Amino acid sequence: MQVVICRDYAEMSSRAAHFISERVMRKPHMVLGLATGETPVGMYAELSRLHREEGLDFSGLTTFNLDEYCGLAHDDPRSYHTFMADNLLSHVNLNPLLVHIPDGAALDADGECARYEALIEAAGGIDLQVLGIGMNGHIGFNEPGTDRNSTTHVVQLARQTVEVNQAKGGYDTLPGSAMSMGIGTIMKAREIVLLASGDGKADIIKNALEGPVTPKTPASILQTHPSVVCFLDAAAASRLSKR
Ligand code: PGA
Repeated sequence: MQVVICRDYAEMSSRAAHFISERVMRKPHMVLGLATGETPVGMYAELSRLHREEGLDFSGLTTFNLDEYCGLAHDDPRSYHTFMADNLLSHVNLNPLLVHIPDGAALDADGECARYEALIEAAGGIDLQVLGIGMNGHIGFNEPGTDRNSTTHVVQLARQTVEVNQAKGGYDTLPGSAMSMGIGTIMKAREIVLLASGDGKADIIKNALEGPVTPKTPASILQTHPSVVCFLDAAAASRLSKR
């Protein structure tokens, strides 16, 4: 695992964006796994700038988002469909036919998860997966205790996850369940980029990167992946001991 410690959020965002853009230029038809949340917003802004000002071409990419809330219409302001439209899709030339986000509104949620997993496989698997990390160590919406071989599945969200995400979004309510790529889906990605920013992530980053590999800290499994790069700002990296 490679750890890149950046001065601040802006540098973390920029370095992660440039890492991705280098991969896109090397393999313009790559399969890119995308994340939502506050952390990657700056990275998406920089990728959008690279498209606008430097002609970075997204048109050949296939993308798969990690997760989506159950029961939200695509145009619901709380949905990750809306998040992706606002933060990336409306700013770059991704082909809408090649953009995939779990359909949280699907009536058959388990069927939708199986369809999504099959789509990832049919695309040849994920070349590069972007991840954030939850306060409890979740990656995607894989909460503590999730099986390491799990595939895309319906998740009952931890109370803390719902409360944190309600507070961040200023929402009165959020669904208590979601569809998420599994730990097994994520671990099959050929390369992984993990982003974390801020003092609030310092303890979980220490546990995930330096603690035991355990389902209690889902992100700790990344220690066993052959190709992970962590872009951390100084605050998120502040409790790491080995560097
Ligand atoms: P955040 O969320 O980027 O908003 O901190 C990360 C996560 O919950 O996975």
